[in-house]
Amino acid sequence: MIKLNKISKVYRTKTIETTALNEIDLHIPKGEFLSIMGPSGCGKSTLLNIMGLLDEPSDGSILVSGQSIKNYASRETSKFRNQKLGFIFQSFHLIPDLSVLDNVELPLLYRNVSSKDRKQMASAALESVGLANRKSHFPSQLSGGQKQRVAIARAIVGNPEIILADEPTGNLDSVMGNEVMDILTKLNTQNGTTIVMVTHDESMAKKTHRLVRLYDGSQVA
Ligand SMILES: Nc1ncnc2c1ncn2[C@@H]1O[C@H](COP(=O)(O)OP(=O)(O)OP(=O)(O)O)[C@@H](O)[C@H]1O
Ligand SMILES: [Mg+2]
Repeated sequence: MIKLNKISKVYRTKTIETTALNEIDLHIPKGEFLSIMGPSGCGKSTLLNIMGLLDEPSDGSILVSGQSIKNYASRETSKFRNQKLGFIFQSFHLIPDLSVLDNVELPLLYRNVSSKDRKQMASAALESVGLANRKSHFPSQLSGGQKQRVAIARAIVGNPEIILADEPTGNLDSVMGNEVMDILTKLNTQNGTTIVMVTHDESMAKKTHRLVRLYDGSQVA
């Protein structure tokens, strides 16, 4: 589903060069639930962004769903990203001026889905994360765990083959964290969604199929 070949990422500023990723080779088969751990700054978010085609590697090649990605800025890549991938960001990235329902509909706006179908699909996604009764709330009116669940609903609304989650339980207490973990596990087992999750929590990582550890941009286990 995702194949990384010798992926490196170097950030250059005037004074300093940072190797965020150093020749990462990783093959994530369809249906796998993979977790990524490692100390702060070791390159986890960089790796996830590269897998999600949000960021371009300095070196190496990437295949997603059998397709090799060349032009990151092209419309085809945007369309591909929109159709194949769902993102859950640590800081939620919800739009404060939009209702919960409108936030969840967002990924569908870039597809040819009618307004009626969008509402129906967004409602179904909200129902699956237990938030059917919060549709017309605004993000500021939700708890942290509820915001995270809205972010999950938005990630799954278009039924993506791959979900990339950057510390989806990082801001949550253990009860909420376990709830979010249960939702992801269910997507993986019932829909066969491939999931890559960055986490700082060993107990969450234990619930996934495989754990990859990064240290200073290199894979160490
Ligand atoms: N835009 C950028 N310009 C320069 N350096 C960057 C940039 N983005 C990230 N870096 C550097 O790349 C390294 C990896 O960053 P990354 O965000 O991937 O770490 P992380 O493992 O996700 O850390 P955390 O657990 O704190 O989220 C860090 O040393 C960071 O300072
Ligand atoms: Mg990070």
